[in-house]
Amino acid sequence: MSQTEETVLTVSNLTKHYACGHKAVDNVSFSIRKGECLGLAGESGSGKSTLARCLLLLEKIDQGDIWLHQQPLGRINKKEARPFRRKLQAVFQNPAASLNPKLKIIDAVMEPLDVSKNDAPLFLQDVCTNRRLAAERLFAMVGLQPHLLDRYPHELSGGQQQRVLIARAISTEPSFIIFDEPTASLDVTSQANILDLLKDLQEEMGLSYLFISHDLAAVHFMSHRIMIMKDGQIADHFEKEELFSEKRHPYSKKLLQVFES
Ligand SMILES: Nc1ncnc2c1ncn2[C@@H]1O[C@H](COP(=O)(O)OP(=O)(O)O)[C@@H](O)[C@H]1O
Ligand SMILES: [Mg+2]
Repeated sequence: MSQTEETVLTVSNLTKHYACGHKAVDNVSFSIRKGECLGLAGESGSGKSTLARCLLLLEKIDQGDIWLHQQPLGRINKKEARPFRRKLQAVFQNPAASLNPKLKIIDAVMEPLDVSKNDAPLFLQDVCTNRRLAAERLFAMVGLQPHLLDRYPHELSGGQQQRVLIARAISTEPSFIIFDEPTASLDVTSQANILDLLKDLQEEMGLSYLFISHDLAAVHFMSHRIMIMKDGQIADHFEKEELFSEKRHPYSKKLLQVFES
């Protein structure tokens, strides 16, 4: 397989400024291969979430291009982007905010498949005519008991809520998932359990991840490659094994001191 066939996402010279002229994302370029987790670390305000929102087409980009499977995303309209959006999913920091409090968990988890019934992924094909069984299959994949499907979001713990959102994200058989601080609102035990789950899912499903966190230890645990963002720019970009190398950018070394303390 050639290098390009293996590339899932390519970002080239992406720039986003806000009204004040401040460049939240400044000329950022990178690519992500199939089955790879690219980590993105950096202090609060460095532009990580803005970059994520640009990739999800939730922000209009000012310059640059985004390709998902060689398809340019940045310049197509929302309708044209729809089939690609199914391939591109996201999980954010605060699971309670991503769940409709009035919707039962089964309805939340099945929402993407309910809107496009004919597009059930391969791993749900044998149960796609039975909504309950499909939901239970998704729940098993993220380590949740089937009886939780009948509850409402407030009746679940934060860790359980985040698992529901992970189940929803994988339900469309995406090739690429963006995680923006997915464990930041969870207690330490739930954090570790969710990271283990994400790693297992990635290996089993051959998924590509952009894993964003201000926590360099979590990024190091999850990622094959790591980018460090500072003031909207990629200050440093290296293989996971090179995190502790002398060659690291002074800013990465500064973040490392926090990691090691
Ligand atoms: N909607 C917005 N309007 C104006 N400025 C924003 C907006 N969202 C974020 N910013 C600014 O852009 C910069 C990057 O923010 P953000 O992407 O949220 O960083 P991070 O996720 O790394 O904490 C910050 O200076 C922030 O204040
Ligand atoms: Mg953020």
